[in-house]
Amino acid sequence: MSMITLALSKGRIFDETVPLLAAAGIVVTEDPEKSRKLILSTNQPHVRVVLVRATDVPTYVQYGGADLGVAGKDSLIEHGGQGLFRPLDLQIAKCRVSVAVRSDFDYRGAVTQGSRLKVATKYTSIARDFFSAKGVHVDMIKLYGSMELAPLTGLADAIVDLVSTGNTLKANHLVEVEQIMDISSHLVVNQAALKLKQAPLKRIIDAFAGAIGEK
Ligand code: PRP
Repeated sequence: MSMITLALSKGRIFDETVPLLAAAGIVVTEDPEKSRKLILSTNQPHVRVVLVRATDVPTYVQYGGADLGVAGKDSLIEHGGQGLFRPLDLQIAKCRVSVAVRSDFDYRGAVTQGSRLKVATKYTSIARDFFSAKGVHVDMIKLYGSMELAPLTGLADAIVDLVSTGNTLKANHLVEVEQIMDISSHLVVNQAALKLKQAPLKRIIDAFAGAIGEK
């Protein structure tokens, strides 16, 4: 029997995938928070979990480094989705992508006056599409983390970032001025693996589908 490799990222995606794996009879036997290991074994000798950065899950699955994975819609949009079969919206790790600014910044004025807006974000595709649809000219500054710092230091007027509870924005005196889209995590499967390892992958997809249907 061939090995099935599932790509997950640590944190909410991992934690909220655990109950779905249980529905497929799969139990991860190591705690990702307690070890530095990147390959975790499961109770099933032919199923393993690889831990990758959330933004790398689509890439691992696209090129077959993993047969399947759980990826946020944000990561999938930024990646482009090439080579991925996307059978299920798992309805987990829900949050939103929003625009946020310093509370003293006149965002409405800036977008209506047709001035250029300096936007810092990790999500350049989502931000570009959003502002171009509104007809707002932006100077895009690509960042890889701690986006909240950009408006506070004068690097940018606005950020486009994930918001869940809103606590991170609040702690940094930023206000959410527009919600761009709702985010949840999706199951993605490598298209070649889907043919070559059809039976075991279908078992996992069906178990996940059953588990989210029961919610
Ligand atoms: C996200 C996002 C914000 C935070 C928002 O970061 O970038 O910093 O969560 O959550 P809140 O509204 O509940 O405060 P995440 O924890 O996903 O990790 P990251 O910093 O690696 O992006």
